[in-house]
Amino acid sequence: MTAVGIDAIEIRTGKLKLDLANTFAPKKGEDPEKYTKGIGLKHSSFPDVYEDIVTMGANAAKDLMDRTGLVPDDIGRIDVATESAFDNSKPVSTYIAGCLEQVYDGDFHHANKGERKFACLAGTQSIDDAYNWIRAGRNRGRSALVIATDTALYERGDPGEATQGAGAVAMLISEDPNVVELSTDQGYGSADETDFLKPNQQFPSVDGKRSVQVYLARMREALEDYESVAGDTHPDDFEYIPFHTPFPGMVRKAALLGYRHMTRGTDVEDALESEIGRQPREADFDSWDAYEDAIRDYMDDLKETDQYSEWYGHAIEPTIDISSQVGNWYTGSVHIARLSALRSAARKGESLAGKRMLVGSYGSGAQAEIHAETVREGWKDEVSAIDVEDQLDSRYDISYDEYELVHDVHNHDKEVDVEEFTQPDGEFVFTGWGRMNERR
Ligand code: CAA
Repeated sequence: MTAVGIDAIEIRTGKLKLDLANTFAPKKGEDPEKYTKGIGLKHSSFPDVYEDIVTMGANAAKDLMDRTGLVPDDIGRIDVATESAFDNSKPVSTYIAGCLEQVYDGDFHHANKGERKFACLAGTQSIDDAYNWIRAGRNRGRSALVIATDTALYERGDPGEATQGAGAVAMLISEDPNVVELSTDQGYGSADETDFLKPNQQFPSVDGKRSVQVYLARMREALEDYESVAGDTHPDDFEYIPFHTPFPGMVRKAALLGYRHMTRGTDVEDALESEIGRQPREADFDSWDAYEDAIRDYMDDLKETDQYSEWYGHAIEPTIDISSQVGNWYTGSVHIARLSALRSAARKGESLAGKRMLVGSYGSGAQAEIHAETVREGWKDEVSAIDVEDQLDSRYDISYDEYELVHDVHNHDKEVDVEEFTQPDGEFVFTGWGRMNERR
């Protein structure tokens, strides 16, 4: 069976950055370490006044097409994943295709375009759709362009305000891919939840603490479901485990839960027995609450062990580097985590081809998906070609007053006129809701 997976990646960060420790924390009267250590974020990206989900997505897609030498005829579908859509009818992919058609010979008349929504999970679901389309033999030799693009904004004063972010990830899904091959095995954990939602409103209504619990519960179910098709997992099976990263502190919790689950009944549990005992077994407890308390105590001990720290440092830490500098990109977030790990491996000169990653995606509302990917021979050249550091380093550092202006500019319910903070550099720019974007 020909391999199908991610062939090329480009990102586009919002061109402004908010420094959480030095700009945000003092105004909020909080200890900077709450953000840098507890939540795990140094900076958040924000769009300049001429950027939005369309321009960030179109600019990432254009970079990808230029770098890989693709023209519209090579692309048979454009799927946009977003939870920041401004149009309830016309999909964001049509706006993005309209941008791209301004600069390429040919157009996307032949391409199937759509918009996927399941909170942050939709980026992965769009990749799954593209995978299935290729596997079904409907692609006529063409690739799919998947673009995950979001402005993750919360109401000012909401606890989620510290975890904002904005950016787009464009990914090409093809046969014989350069970066990773997707496996057919997937696991899901899905339930109707109301901890994070945006019913006809600009900013999400969030029960933040509960959202963390829902994330963990769905992720555990997805892992169990994945194991029901792929067999039991062990931490050594996977080089990296990129998780959806609303903020790195969330990944710390997911990683610990995953590690405990994967090591249950294994050589790792045996090796740790003399140090922290064996994992509690439900059958040994009279009530579910007592069992859960015992699990919590075990996990508190587990995270202090050398085995866990070593595994976390290798398999998880590299996945959160980019996220800690850009905040939450919602649908793009897990794809940033994968990219972060691969770029770290490229810098360290690791040989990854043939090795596996376990990818944990999540969307509020709520659903988690776990799937495995195998790294391909061409991964290093591809991920090294992406100008991540240049983009992050050239962001304009906004003051707190500027942050409030920018937040208002991107609030659809407000009319605010603010000067640009940076200059467009031959890129698509926003010209008004529902209007054709220009290039400047
Ligand atoms: N030094 C070090 N650490 C500190 C600290 C300090 N001075 N002060 C606090 N901390 C730690 C806390 O102990 C806590 O860590 P633990 O969770 O490990 O205990 C961490 O910093 C955060 O502190 P709080 O819990 O007090 O923070 P908060 O209540 O103000 O906000 C939040 C946390 C509720 C998650 C909030 O950021 C939020 O609402 N975020 C949006 C919702 C979200 O992202 N949920 C994640 C799951 S849903 C999802 O994934 C979908 C999505 O993309 C949104």
